[in-house]
Amino acid sequence: MKKEIAKARAYANIAIAKYWGKRDESVNLPIFDSLAFNVADLYSETTARWVDEGEDSLTIDNWSVPPSLMGRTLRILDAIRHEKSWSKRCILESTNNFPRATGLASSSSGSAAMALAASWAAGLDLSESELSVLARLGSGSAARSIPGGWTRMSAGSDPLGSDAFAHSIAPADHWDLSVFVVKISTLPKAVSSTEAMRTCVKSPFWEAYVEASQEMAKRVEVAVLRRDFPSFAKLCHESCLMLHALSLSAGICYFEPESIAILQRVLRQSTAIPVCCTLDAGANVVILCERMVRPFMLNDIMGMGLDYVETRVGGGAELIKC
Ligand code: PMV
Repeated sequence: MKKEIAKARAYANIAIAKYWGKRDESVNLPIFDSLAFNVADLYSETTARWVDEGEDSLTIDNWSVPPSLMGRTLRILDAIRHEKSWSKRCILESTNNFPRATGLASSSSGSAAMALAASWAAGLDLSESELSVLARLGSGSAARSIPGGWTRMSAGSDPLGSDAFAHSIAPADHWDLSVFVVKISTLPKAVSSTEAMRTCVKSPFWEAYVEASQEMAKRVEVAVLRRDFPSFAKLCHESCLMLHALSLSAGICYFEPESIAILQRVLRQSTAIPVCCTLDAGANVVILCERMVRPFMLNDIMGMGLDYVETRVGGGAELIKC
């Protein structure tokens, strides 16, 4: 059997201006732009092998994903098959160096690594924006794990999504921030982000939320480019709290008591020092601070007895040796 194989690594990304809401769920087209950074020490590695016979298969950390849960993966593989005009099957093996489905964006790094490995193994040399579009088919946020550093995802207007991809607005070393990923829960989240987004549309606050989020990515981009921490922190909290307030109003609570405790503490600290925090669709909290307050924050996090990973802004998806 002839084999075509490639391996790729992609980093999880954490949104500061959050994406929440889809204009087309079948291809993960967002309603408004979002802005995120890649996390240097949280990544997925995926090996893709195209074969002439058999079935598509995916293992994540040695767990065999059942065919009923392969939908997102098949969107990526089918797009490649369409491009190649072939009917080969793909064997995918993926590993994460952090717990999956806990609100630490494993679907972003996983789908991005898969898009790069599977397209390269198929002999396609896609541009960054084409790869970002391909990764988006697996998970909306995955589009942002293809370029490096700080990335902005355009909602685009093409009904097919050709203009809904992410680009880098600044490289990883643009701003010397400390990042602490505080692990509160390693249990998979109870409500997937796709399901939650579907539910949130029914909230009485939905329209106000969409309106308030339209310009968020643009405003965060300005703050990042200027390295303006006070504006950055304010927008970071605004976007995160709006998402969680909306989710709560739709009956979805991603917080654990410890998430609230840290959130409350950081919100208070942020009035005096350059620190802020955010939570995606899960209980874990990501704290960002300027380098000068790192010793203080480190002490504080350790003092609370929390399990954490200290990291920084990371690079884009890359091919690695098999
Ligand atoms: O890409 P998804 O379907 O995992 O949705 C991501 C949603 C958030 O993480 C909460 C926000 C974001 O912009 O990443």
